[in-house]
This record gives sequence, structure tokens and C-alpha cells, in this order.
Amino acid sequence: MKSNLLYSVLATLLITAFYSCGGSGDLSEVNVYSHRHYPVDQEIFKNFSNLTGIKVNVVSASADELITKLELEGNRSPADLLITVDAGRLEKAKAAGLLQKVNSITLSDRIPPRFRDPENFWFAFTYRARAIAYAPDRVDAEEVSTYEDLASPLLKNRVVMRSSEHTYNQSLMASLLAHWGPEKSAEWCEALAENFSRSPRGNDRDQLKAIAAGQGDVTICNTYYVAKLAESPIKEEREVVDKIKIIFPNQEDRGAHINISGVGLTKHAPNKENAISLMEYLISSEVQEKFSVENHEYPVIDGVKRSSYLEEWGSFKIDSLPLGKLGEYNDEAVRIIDQCGWR
Ligand SMILES: [Fe+2]
Repeated sequence: MKSNLLYSVLATLLITAFYSCGGSGDLSEVNVYSHRHYPVDQEIFKNFSNLTGIKVNVVSASADELITKLELEGNRSPADLLITVDAGRLEKAKAAGLLQKVNSITLSDRIPPRFRDPENFWFAFTYRARAIAYAPDRVDAEEVSTYEDLASPLLKNRVVMRSSEHTYNQSLMASLLAHWGPEKSAEWCEALAENFSRSPRGNDRDQLKAIAAGQGDVTICNTYYVAKLAESPIKEEREVVDKIKIIFPNQEDRGAHINISGVGLTKHAPNKENAISLMEYLISSEVQEKFSVENHEYPVIDGVKRSSYLEEWGSFKIDSLPLGKLGEYNDEAVRIIDQCGWR
């Protein structure tokens, strides 16, 4: 009897030691801090749970809020993964020491180098183009074929834009800054702000609606919002799409600015193995297709079925600026937009 008891105490101690040494918390869960705001994600996480038995817990907030949360929580953070809609924020999290390297052959083999951090601290699982949308009855396509064109005096009082506080616009500015330097970037930003027909407000969809309503003639938006309006159950939203066209900017020179949705493993991830399994699942063909067909984002791997909208818009030249630069130039980009009148 005595030895039986001893064995069971020893066994309990061993199991406890295994869990704590291995650094894994509850073997059946993974904790995700996410800035994504699309219903398709919930479905994907549910499918992952059904497949693996690993429960996915999600905390939703902006990337900046989640980064602050990670900083405050330090090594007590329950978070395993940080998901953002911006390479700049992942790069910032890396620079702040909040992420760790992931050595996964699946991730590095399947994701092309342009869509991951060269040191494997973060990985994109989709990308999105920040395109120009315009009213074809009032604007010639040639007048709005580049981001530079939007600052032309021709477009005075005709541009509507989302606030510069949003990461999408900060990263666009960061990309231009990386290409042009501070002087030209500030000039562009001022001229752009002078062209606004109203003060910035609303999200990308609201800018498209404003064009359809004649409150402006041109804007910049992520392409998937056009597809989402086209599929809206609301008739007025579907009609917006009939009144606009999109253009991939700068096709004759450096290419269109893109951004990504990506993921990094947190420095103190308590469920590291589960987290890496989820990262790998996000780039499986099945999930890549879902991101594309259901959310109209561009998959990072080739050979998966794409949304009919992406097929219709066709292929385009992508700005080859390394995505990490969006983080490097973020602070300076924010300073420029704060001063140029794009609020
Ligand atoms: Fe979005």
C-alpha cells in the first residue's frame, strides 16, 4: 500500500514537472490577441478546435492596445499569438521584444519570403491591396492612376479619406516615406489634405459610400471592402459598387502598396506548441481558400481557389518594399500626418 501511494505521488509530481518544464499551460488551449474583425476568423478557429481539440480563446482589440497589454502583462501574459492587420505593428512588437522566433519548416517553406519576417518573428497569412477607388462618371482613370495623383490640384475638394489615425493609412504613409524621404512625403500629405472635400471620418466602406453619394470623387481603400459591399444584404450597399471603380496604383512604376494580416508567437507563450499548430493551420490550403473566397483577401500561398472578385480585378504589381519598413517608418509617418492636416 505504502509503495502504491508513493508511486502515485511520484507520478503526480512528474506530471506537474513535465507541464511546468515544458512551458506548456493547459494542453488543450491557445490564447490569441487579435486585431482582426472579420466573422470568417471565428469559423476558422472553430474548425481548428474541431480538428485538434485545442480551444481557441480570442481577445479582440486594436494592435496598439494589444501591444500595450502584452507589455504590461510581461511574462505573466496568457497570450500565445498576436494577430494584426498591419506588418508595421508586428514589426513594432518584434522590436519591443514581445515576440519570439518560430522555426517551422511548414511556415518557412510555404510562405514566400516577402510575406514573412526574415528572422521568422512574424508571418503573413493574407495580404491586401490599398487601392484607389473613384467615380468613373466624374473621373478619368488616367487622372488617378498613382497615389501621387491624389495630391494633384485637379482633385481639389474631390478626395474623401478615412482618418490618418488608422493603421492602414499610417502604413501607406510609412511606405511612401520609405520611398521618398521626409520632404516629399510631407509635401504630398499637405497637398492631399488640401484636396479633401470633407474632414476625414468613417471607415473604408464609408468612403466608398461617400463617393457613390457624390460627397467626393476618389478615395483609397482596401479592396476586400468593395467585395463586401457587393455582397451586402442591403440593396443600397450593393448599389454603391455600381457607382465606383478601383485601380491598383503605380502599376507603371513601383507597384501598389500592400499590407498584410499576420501573426507572431509571443515571447512568453504558455501554449507554444498549440500556437505553432494554429499558425500552420492558417496557411493550410483549406484556410487560405477561406480567407480568399469568404473574406476576399489575397492568400499568401499560390494554387488556392480565389474569390471571384480577386479573379475579376486580375493580377497587379506589388510594391516590393520590405514589409518590416512599415514598422520602422511608423513613428516618422505619424509625425508627418499629424502636421500635414490629414486628421
Ligand atoms: Fe479591415
